[in-house]
Amino acid sequence: MNSGVTARHSGNMPELLLVVNKISKRFGGLQALSDVSFGICKGDIYGLIGPNGAGKTTLFNVLTSLYRPEMGTANFMGHQLTRLKPHEIAQVGIARSFQNIRLFANLTAIENVMIGRHVRTRAGVWGAIVRNRATQAEERAIEARAYELLEYVGIADRANDIARSLSYGDQRRLEIARALATEPVLLALDEPAAGMNPSETAVLRQLIEKIRSDGVTVLLIEHDMKLVMGLCNRLLVLEYGRVLAEGKPAEIQRNPRVIEAYLGKGAAAEPGVESVPGGDLAAQTAARPPQATVQTAPPAGQTREPT
Ligand SMILES: Nc1ncnc2c1ncn2[C@@H]1O[C@H](COP(=O)(O)OP(=O)(O)O)[C@@H](O)[C@H]1O
Ligand SMILES: [Mg+2]
Repeated sequence: MNSGVTARHSGNMPELLLVVNKISKRFGGLQALSDVSFGICKGDIYGLIGPNGAGKTTLFNVLTSLYRPEMGTANFMGHQLTRLKPHEIAQVGIARSFQNIRLFANLTAIENVMIGRHVRTRAGVWGAIVRNRATQAEERAIEARAYELLEYVGIADRANDIARSLSYGDQRRLEIARALATEPVLLALDEPAAGMNPSETAVLRQLIEKIRSDGVTVLLIEHDMKLVMGLCNRLLVLEYGRVLAEGKPAEIQRNPRVIEAYLGKGAAAEPGVESVPGGDLAAQTAARPPQATVQTAPPAGQTREPT
């Protein structure tokens, strides 16, 4: 266990929800993650930052069982995540969004959220296909709850619109609603502000704060340094698959190794990575080309993160 985890747990510290211990993941000759250890406490908005290719999305994919690590463990409330199947991740209380938005492009917004909800119902996804009277009643309850979630993320007025017709920012919020439909304990968001304009980013920030104050712990991958530094109470910095630093935002911002590798001039040369912590938000957002497009989601349990 790394020193960050131990230090945070001495004294009257909050409950540890996730303990990641020495995770390593290799793709052929590429060591995407090496010995990554950290801990997330209940109530954290825990930021995961680092240059493009640092291994952030790979870490999400390991924590959600899309990839099996060669080494290491990830204990989430007594569950060994690395032993679970992808469909079991939602059942233990973890939900995520994807860097490349994954919605059912030709279904409506509310239908997309209802699909997320089925993991929590008795009838399950099968029951949604083979409808009997009990599942029809359950279906109505799911629809009502899905509508509430659309209201919660602020896009209820788009409930009956086809997902691909929504604006970019609304699609990202729809992904969050779909993830929340599984009633997660931990919500993992992979670059939720990517491609958003400054006003959409400001609304997103309020939404993430609301999610946390409603009792959901958040793990956030984000390049927008102003958002990260203002929102997160704890940060992990990855570089070439290794932990470069872990700590409070203020500590990270003045860490010479982090400045050198990521926040400083080295990062400025890399497209898609913002260089100045708390720098001009409009310039930061404009500098990054939109990465996400609506994709037709594969069937549950068969998701693979495109590379
Ligand atoms: N499925 C994969 N197969 C091969 N290489 C991959 C795969 N997924 C990620 N990588 C590589 O692993 C490294 C880390 O990628 P990624 O986790 O996506 O970085 P980040 O999200 O920090 O930008 C990159 O060099 C990337 O090309
Ligand atoms: Mg990524």
